[in-house]
Amino acid sequence: MDLSAYIQWLRSGEVVAIPTETVYGLGASIASEAAILKIFETKQRPLSNPLIVHVDSPDAFSKYATAVPEAVYQLAAKFCPGPISFVLPAAPSLSPLLLGGQTTVALRVPNHPIALQLIRELGTPIAAPSANRYKGLSATTAHAVALAMPELKDRIIDGGRCSAGVESTIIGFEQNTPVIYRMGGITNVQIEEVLNQPVVYKGHATGNPKAPGMQLRHYAPETPMVVANQLAQVVNQLAPAKLAVLSFRQTISHPSIIAQEILSPSGSDQEAAFQLYHLLGKLDAAQPDFIVAEWLPEQGLGAAINDKLRRGAERVIF
Ligand code: TXA
Ligand code: MG
Repeated sequence: MDLSAYIQWLRSGEVVAIPTETVYGLGASIASEAAILKIFETKQRPLSNPLIVHVDSPDAFSKYATAVPEAVYQLAAKFCPGPISFVLPAAPSLSPLLLGGQTTVALRVPNHPIALQLIRELGTPIAAPSANRYKGLSATTAHAVALAMPELKDRIIDGGRCSAGVESTIIGFEQNTPVIYRMGGITNVQIEEVLNQPVVYKGHATGNPKAPGMQLRHYAPETPMVVANQLAQVVNQLAPAKLAVLSFRQTISHPSIIAQEILSPSGSDQEAAFQLYHLLGKLDAAQPDFIVAEWLPEQGLGAAINDKLRRGAERVIF
């Protein structure tokens, strides 16, 4: 693909929406502080929320981090390029705007040919949060980016639908213990298998969350959403309100349901992740009074999907 027009935008200090395998990113060259500031403006995101820096290979980690534990290279050998971001001590050359007031940087190698080509041809890493308004649903198509951020218009690179569909897993190390700050495309079981060591999950909201994805309200559709493990019961309770239902494997029927989508008829957690934001966006567009989403089995990517649903919901009903 000829990316020269987008490279020009990035070089001139503009933001460009880029495809990755997880979700679309709102990218800026890390060499332009003006462009990095535009990410925060465009997303209406507080400066205290740090950005992920996208590099083209794990070989670049040691350039942007002052120390890279051996465990990171073990994980990178298995999962990079892929949906995992590493929180590491930041090199002094990095703009503080990328770090949100912290001394660490999040580094990731995206598994998308266009993203990798763009980083290589630009010759500098690309900082990118997800390409959505602050706290809104993440975008997994160029069309969803355009709907959320119409002002980007001709600065959205269409790389097709994101293959993974949920964000990267964010992992750091505290006294050599692997700590997951955000669940995502690589599960803690996969990480434990590589490291032969238990991982700690610290994803709950605290005073100053390490990762914005830790804040409770996040990944939210416009429509108030309820997450439930007994769909039919909650649908009965909410009727006669107009309902849009997101179920895991099977449809349910009720006269109040005006729209309905299934994450994975075969019960695949990967397919469910692939469909999650896409189908939530469709249900949101149907303008129901409520979205009712089904809680998934907490296995594999199910845990990450449930985490996004829980954070996007007004209520979780068990
Ligand atoms: O899959 C993804 O990670 C996507 C694509 C575009 O790469 N990006 C993404 O970015 O989800 P964003 O900004 O929506 O979420 C980035 C997460 C945030 O929770 C942020 O706080 C965390 O990464 N993060 C970034 N830098 C960090 C740091 N230095 N320490 C701790 N967490 C950090
Ligand atoms: Mg995000």
